[in-house]
Formats: sequence, C-alpha cells, structure tokens
Amino acid sequence: MVIAFEGIDGSGKSTQAQKLAQRLQDLGKIVHLTQEPTQNPLGKMIRNQFAHPDCASQEIIAGLFVADRLDHIFNKDYGMKKHSEEGAIVVTDRYYISSYAYQAVYMPLDWLMMANSYAAQSLPADLHLFIDVEPDIALSRINANRSNVDLYETKEMLLKVRANYLTAFELLKNKEKIIFIDGNQSQDLVGEQVLNQVLQFIKSKNKIQP
Ligand code: ADP
Ligand code: TYD
Repeated sequence: MVIAFEGIDGSGKSTQAQKLAQRLQDLGKIVHLTQEPTQNPLGKMIRNQFAHPDCASQEIIAGLFVADRLDHIFNKDYGMKKHSEEGAIVVTDRYYISSYAYQAVYMPLDWLMMANSYAAQSLPADLHLFIDVEPDIALSRINANRSNVDLYETKEMLLKVRANYLTAFELLKNKEKIIFIDGNQSQDLVGEQVLNQVLQFIKSKNKIQP
C-alpha cells in the first residue's frame, strides 16, 4: 500500500507523515517513510536548482522531478516498489500530484501528466491525503520556523499551487482516491483525522480482498 501526503508548503505534511508512520508502526505494521524530492542523487540535483533560483530552469526542474520519481520507485536498493513488495506500507511526503500542482505553474498540465504517467501507472498511490491549509497560515508557519524560504514559498505561488491541486483533483477524481483533511486545525486534531481516514481505508481494502 502506498499513502501519499500532498499540500502546499507549510501545510504540515511532513509533521503528519511522520506522525502517521509512527502510529502505524505502533499498531505493528511495517512502514517505509519517504519523501520527494528524495535525498538520493537526483533529489539532490533538484535541491541544488532550488538553491540557485536565479539560474534555475523550470523545464529542467520538471524533468528532474520525473527522473527522481522513477528512481524513487524503481531503485533496486531503496525504491518504493521494493519496500511495497516486501510488505511495507509506504508513506510518502509528496508524490506525482505535487508535479501537477507545482510544475503546472510553468509547464502544460497535459505534458506533466504524460511525463509522469509511467510512474503513476507503475506504482499508483492507493490514497492521497491532501492537507488543505490557507496559504496565509502556511506562510506564517514557514516564516515562524525557518530562516531560509524556498523557491516556491510566496503567497502568490501558494495560491496558484493550491488552485492547481484542485484542478488536478477534479481531473483525477475517478482514477485516484483523494481525501481532503482540514489542516488549519491543531497538529493533534489533524493527526487524529489522518489516522482515522487511513485506518478506515485499510479496513475497507481488507474487506474486498479475498
Ligand atoms: P510541510 O511539510 O507541509 O512544509 P511541516 O510539517 O514541515 O509542513 O510544518 C511546517 C511548520 O509548521 C513546522 O514548524 C511545524 O512544526 C508547524 N506545524 C505543522 N502542523 C501544524 C499545525 N497543525 N498547526 C500549527 N503548526 C503546525
Ligand atoms: P518539500 O521538501 O516537501 O517542502 P515542504 O516541506 O516545504 O513542502 O518539497 C520541496 C519543494 O519541492 C516544495 O516547494 C514543493 C516542491 N516540489 C515540486 O515543485 N514538485 C514536485 O513534484 C515535488 C515532489 C515537490
């Protein structure tokens, strides 16, 4: 099973991905917690582009995300497919819908969906949890907790990214299982809702398996 967290920067995804992984482990499940961009060589190339915004190319960034994602899935040593086949619940902090939300600010959405289609078909997320937060709240969290602000962390950008998420969810609603969580609440309340939704989903999946 693959569970993907999505949301704008500062929505609390990383906090919730870690919380969920811990709770599932406490329930005796094997969990592989991971993230995109990855910490692997291609993910490092992406972070390097982010670190030099003046010479960053949005076309190259879009291509690097596709490559990082394919490595994230198929790498024989650390790929999500390997972990999933070994029986782990894979929890990933961002997956292919992030590209439809962020890179779509600069690139055509149909190209992004096509370029990510092999990844999305080879290891689709069983569940996408969208932590929905007002951009102003997300920015205040980012500014309160960090000295460096990333390439995409402006209000204008976060508004566009959120709108792109909603467009992508509408297009994918018959294909992907997407759950909205109100991320404006406290970490504990968000965490409770995330856990309830995931346990309900696992239960419903187990019911339909022979
Ligand atoms: P993301 O991964 O979506 O960028 P993080 O989980 O890193 O978000 O959270 C960004 C910051 O906001 C962190 O300092 C975190 O402690 C804080 N935070 C996360 N969730 C909440 C919440 N529900 N309410 C208030 N602050 C939060
Ligand atoms: P991340 O480390 O998840 O940042 P945050 O925790 O602040 O949300 O992701 C770093 C940045 O990468 C973030 O601004 C979103 C961006 N990103 C894309 O633009 N496209 C993608 O496909 C992914 C996975 C991330």
